[in-house]
Amino acid sequence: MSDLVHRTPGWSLPQAAYTDPDVFAADLEHVFAAHWLFAGHTGELDAPGRFLTVDVGRDRVIVVRGEGGALHAHHDVCAHRGSRVAPDVRGQVRAFVCPYHQWVYDLDGTLRSARLMGDCFATRSYRLAPVAVRESAGLVFVCLADAPPDFDAFAAALEPRLGPHGLADAHVVVRERYRVAANWKTLVENNRECYHCAGSHPEFSLSNFDVGVNGDVRTNPRYDRALAAARARWRAQGLPGEDVNFPDGAPYRVARLPLREGFLSETLDGRPLAAPMGTLTDPDVGSLRVISLPNLWAHANADYAVTTRLTPVDAGTTDVELCFLTARDATVDPDALAAVWRATSEQDWELCERNGAGIASRGYRPGPLSPVVEASVEAVLDWYVSALARPARRAA
Ligand code: FES
Ligand code: FE
Repeated sequence: MSDLVHRTPGWSLPQAAYTDPDVFAADLEHVFAAHWLFAGHTGELDAPGRFLTVDVGRDRVIVVRGEGGALHAHHDVCAHRGSRVAPDVRGQVRAFVCPYHQWVYDLDGTLRSARLMGDCFATRSYRLAPVAVRESAGLVFVCLADAPPDFDAFAAALEPRLGPHGLADAHVVVRERYRVAANWKTLVENNRECYHCAGSHPEFSLSNFDVGVNGDVRTNPRYDRALAAARARWRAQGLPGEDVNFPDGAPYRVARLPLREGFLSETLDGRPLAAPMGTLTDPDVGSLRVISLPNLWAHANADYAVTTRLTPVDAGTTDVELCFLTARDATVDPDALAAVWRATSEQDWELCERNGAGIASRGYRPGPLSPVVEASVEAVLDWYVSALARPARRAA
């Protein structure tokens, strides 16, 4: 598969990496089906039978809370003749009833009943095919691989840092869905650099420095002073002072960054919209960034969190779901809650679509990445090309 994408270090990828359906198929197999994918939030699965779905190319995974509280994930494929069984993209059921011939599955995926299959039919020999699922600090992940990569080290990074934000008890207040006309890698590249922030993100730039992105080697004494002072305060609150940045090439980052002076949250005026979430006691916790490649980035402020989930549709199209979460007992103005990250995200999608259009044109050639502010893009492209070169983790 590495033959599909020839990359020159320090340069953007060749056109085919963003436009060729064969590369897109390889991306699904070697990247999306081989890694842990962000599925949704614990708060969306807070009662038996509550479920959500994740699309990965031709696959759809159902994630559902079981009767005993355990989380289950299944391929959304009936064991009879293969119909989809989930009644919607999310919801709550007592059981999954296939709409075709009404086979009935328990929440744990076992077949409960199958009408008109004869006296000798071994009902309990059939089930919805299981998919690996894990839950950490209020985030739910699935993996389609037969032998999923390690999740524990990511959870060990996530839980002490994100756990205190109480996302496990949070609820989704605002959900925005977008269809972006660009390859999924264009969206990831855009997320991994802040070269464009000052020029494109006025709302984001109110509260955020444009440095601190992993791989940005600029020095900024004001930022360094703010970071050192903030880390001392965070340690005093019991929050880990050290960040986790793609350790040994692993596809995740959990990093707490300071906000600009006067800002206690990524809001337009810096004021928090609600009391600190979870077990946080002080609103001054900066903004915790979580990245899990290939399909999640999230910001957790003291008062709210926002997650971004990517779903590749085809080589030139990516669906995005943006969720804004608060504590269940918080009363917030949804527009104030979404103001910064809805604007920032929509600005990013416009940038990505312009980027995608240029990449797809006959005038495109790979261009040079900045060694000053795009080392993070270089790193993510290295990770991508390495992932393509690894054998698929399941039969095609
Ligand atoms: Fe599901 Fe027949 S395909 S019951
Ligand atoms: Fe951006």
